[in-house]
Amino acid sequence: MSALKDVEDLSADEAATEHDRLAREIRTHDRAYYQHDAPKISDAAYDALRQRLEAVEARFPELATEDSPSRTVGAAPSGKFGEVRHARPMLSLGNAFNDEDVADFVQRVRRFLGLSDDDPVAFTAEPKIDGLSASLRYEKGVLVLGATRGDGETGENVTANLKTIEGIPHRIEGGVPDVLEVRGEVYMSHADFAALNDRQREIGKPEYKNPRNAAAGSLRQIDATVTASRALKFFAYAWGELSGPLADTQYDAVQRLGALGFDINPDMVRSDNVDDLLETYRGIEKKRADLGYDIDGVVYKVDRLDFQERLGQVSRAPRWAIAHKFPAERATTRLNDIEIQVGRTGALTPVAKLEPVTVGGVVVSNATLHNEDEIARKDIRIGDTVVIQRAGDVIPQIVEVLKEKRPADAVRFEPLSVCPCPLKTPTAREMNERTGKMDAVRRCTGELACPFQKKEHLKHFVSRQAFDIEGLGTKQIEAFFEDGEIGEPADIFTLAARNAEGQLTPPLQEREGWGETSVRNLFAAIEERRTIGLARFLNALGIRHVGEGTARLLARAYSSWDAFKAAAMAASGDGEARDSLLAIDGVGETATDAIGRYFAEPHNLELLQHLEDQITIEDAEVVANDSRVAGKTIVFTGSLERMTRDEAKARAQSLGAKVSGSVSGKTDILVAGPGAGSKLKKATELGVQTLSEDEWFELIGG
Ligand code: IVH
Repeated sequence: MSALKDVEDLSADEAATEHDRLAREIRTHDRAYYQHDAPKISDAAYDALRQRLEAVEARFPELATEDSPSRTVGAAPSGKFGEVRHARPMLSLGNAFNDEDVADFVQRVRRFLGLSDDDPVAFTAEPKIDGLSASLRYEKGVLVLGATRGDGETGENVTANLKTIEGIPHRIEGGVPDVLEVRGEVYMSHADFAALNDRQREIGKPEYKNPRNAAAGSLRQIDATVTASRALKFFAYAWGELSGPLADTQYDAVQRLGALGFDINPDMVRSDNVDDLLETYRGIEKKRADLGYDIDGVVYKVDRLDFQERLGQVSRAPRWAIAHKFPAERATTRLNDIEIQVGRTGALTPVAKLEPVTVGGVVVSNATLHNEDEIARKDIRIGDTVVIQRAGDVIPQIVEVLKEKRPADAVRFEPLSVCPCPLKTPTAREMNERTGKMDAVRRCTGELACPFQKKEHLKHFVSRQAFDIEGLGTKQIEAFFEDGEIGEPADIFTLAARNAEGQLTPPLQEREGWGETSVRNLFAAIEERRTIGLARFLNALGIRHVGEGTARLLARAYSSWDAFKAAAMAASGDGEARDSLLAIDGVGETATDAIGRYFAEPHNLELLQHLEDQITIEDAEVVANDSRVAGKTIVFTGSLERMTRDEAKARAQSLGAKVSGSVSGKTDILVAGPGAGSKLKKATELGVQTLSEDEWFELIGG
């Protein structure tokens, strides 16, 4: 590269060219650093770029345009959007993959509501837009806050960015509720996506993989003027907090949003039977290619909002809606190799290494093979020509082998008898005690002695739904782990001190890819996470069968880490103590056993102790703790007349109660309808409070 001219020697034309080059380069590095957590140059080199840009602008002030990096990033280099806790969680949707699943969904809704086959129940059907959801909070008609979905509970504050989208009004009028949170999907049309990628290519920037990624990348720009330059669109289809009702039905509420100035999808219809819903689905599927934007299915929603209210939600998805997905897209390619990946729980997963092929607009070079039985069942051999399919974000799968194309030298896959890790620990397939069958998954028996498992645990520990430490992602964990600086979770929290004391050689700020600023930011992000909520913490531990949902249930049931730990330690001992865990609705035998095993392992207790020395685990918020049944364990028995069993159960849970299926010393209340038998007898013997259905409703306030 030729030597750079002194800024003082640049002509006006040269300065403009140079300014353009510097601005582009700085933005590329900003993106790498802030959005991908992967800086490509040292902080010093980055600072030099900025200084030169400023020097050029000092000589030619007309170049300091609104969108110059000198104006836009300077003050906000934390690279983080503020956090927004959603007033009402942003839910996801359950999936239906065929007509039968849809019929089941409708049936479930009917059963839950206690409707007979003749009672009418209407649903809306509308395209499922493949973008990213956003929530827009209007107070007295003024847009005051816009956020991404994030993990559903907490999103990012992207108000300035959302305000640049044409279809999002800054002010709405016409008797709207004082508080109105409009929710919908931000997306990019095919035409705008193609134009954006053309531009990216021209200026030497990476292209976006698909319209959804382009929409997400464009919305999450630190600099809102960049978002403004991207053609994003928004469809309103739902709402969050509301101070007053929008309408009585889903359909009318969405029409109302349309009247307020939001774009709403023109293909939404209302029907009251499964056949019509399915017909709508097929109609939308036919139109799919001509819509001009990506959709990945059709969403059905119960129309009556009072029904929606009664149906409520189960874990992260409403009972009143479902996404009917389009079938996955397929392509044919060659299987070049089979690689083994070792997961967090030691599972050895065979991964297909494919000749890269485009499926539904995305280049695919890996596919999951699940396990060795699956490979044998499908008789998949290295060298085969295979049909792969990809649905949405799901990892592509091999659906079929084209045997007629099999070359003579195709190689059969041999399961590994030892882990590919340096320890070469033996692998085994466990017997599932409950089913008495051999587990399909082969595992490394090294547990946390296996460096692969250790590393995966750490990655899980810092992942988004767990500690979620800005600047400490998969890549950084890999590097710190390889260098021996982070071997267990607690090491993350001593990293700054060890670096300050000179225990890291070379010091972190002198390493490739790091600099004073990025190190400072990383340590600040780690500090910020020294206090963590109980649910996140439990999820972060990576106990088998204790994922995000179970962690949340446990946090809610025990409130504090100490209370949970005491129960878990007890559960690792005798059988009696397991009941306290099993009494939590949604926590089954498998999770209970896994928790017991985890807490019986001295090595785990040691890791926990190290962590407890470093962090503070906040008590979980007690849900609806003002309700009279919060924290109580309830059992329903006999037939209920005012509500279905499912509905009664859901209602009790929403009031903070635990619902159990069996009566024990831990039961607080037995709600007994007509026909109650052995449970009522047992409750009476144990002196458990027994209520009729009416008394129960009186207790919980109707
Ligand atoms: S309703 C409480 N309607 O799909 C129900 N979601 O897989 C909230 N999505 O997170 C969602 N189009 O981002 C709904 N017409 C539509 C949708 C839609 C796309 C997305 C949304 C949601 C995800 C769930």
